[in-house]
Amino acid sequence: MKTLSNPIYPVIWQDDRVILIDQTRLPEEYHTVEISSCQAMAEAIKTMIVRGAPAIGVAAGYGMYLGAREIADSDRQKFLHQLEAIAEMLRKTRPTAVNLFWAISRMVQTAQESRGTVAEIKATLLETAKAIQQEDLQTCRAIGDHGLSVLPDKPQATILTHCNAGSLATAGYGTALGVVRSAWREARLQRVYADETRPRLQGAKLTAWECVQEGIPVTVITDSMSAHCMREGKIDLVVVGADRIAANGDTANKIGTYSLAIIAQAHNVPFYVAAPFSTIDFSLPDGSKIPIEERNVTEISQIGTTSLCPEGADFYNPAFDVTPAKLIAGIITEKGVLKPHLLNN
Ligand code: MRU
Repeated sequence: MKTLSNPIYPVIWQDDRVILIDQTRLPEEYHTVEISSCQAMAEAIKTMIVRGAPAIGVAAGYGMYLGAREIADSDRQKFLHQLEAIAEMLRKTRPTAVNLFWAISRMVQTAQESRGTVAEIKATLLETAKAIQQEDLQTCRAIGDHGLSVLPDKPQATILTHCNAGSLATAGYGTALGVVRSAWREARLQRVYADETRPRLQGAKLTAWECVQEGIPVTVITDSMSAHCMREGKIDLVVVGADRIAANGDTANKIGTYSLAIIAQAHNVPFYVAAPFSTIDFSLPDGSKIPIEERNVTEISQIGTTSLCPEGADFYNPAFDVTPAKLIAGIITEKGVLKPHLLNN
């Protein structure tokens, strides 16, 4: 068994404010930002200083508390009314990851159900935000450990992952990278292959950074290399995270996940999703209704400030896609590995 080095926490509650690792500046610079208002938190989620579905949920929980703290009214009904406006502002930050909406709803419900003074409700909201964070950490560790059961019957596996579903994308430990971390701890991992993940390069920048921090062997490939690597027999299994899973198991995750699942099926490589149970949106029967965020086209037309393409070209920049359940071998949750078509059971 290997000992893991210092954990990475993307969201920290400290001295009455939130400290976020600025994920837009990694791996060049490790820089943190202090967030003391719900507006600043909304901006940090929009601009992807904090990103990854569960981490967005954790950040939104604290964002709700920061907003509640600013409400001067001590009348309960007026307080709840203003809190709903804060919830609405935070809901508008990013549309796809259900964890955002789940965490905000939990905070709103906590406030509505709290008896006592407004000051007491505010204190309860802070405790709830902390609980969301702690629970996610426990959940990710459980996901990682359940993931050990899907590793192939050989001493050490190679895992391909897409985007970043690691500590940076959660309260810590990660979902897909949670499986990687648990496998590494148990000496069951040979190497991680990380898709670079165009256009924002979360795989090349963030997944590779996390692995290097912990001494986990990582090879970065471009998104177009996965079929070739599978044909060469380099990949034993694929494990990715999820932003929202519909009731039938269809799964939204970072753009490029769907094509990766098709490629995996063509090469008989098992394709797994790792996600907390709260990422399942039982209100959506299938993936067709999952809202897909479209981001600024400069993410694909430029590298930094340098334009890549001729003037006059048009661009389309969906940030997520939906992988049909039939391509998914299993969904690794904190409750165990579930068959995608049996989520309702
Ligand atoms: O746009 P991002 O970087 O927030 O997208 C992140 C992903 O797609 C992750 O795979 C997903 O949120 C799961 S994170 C545990």
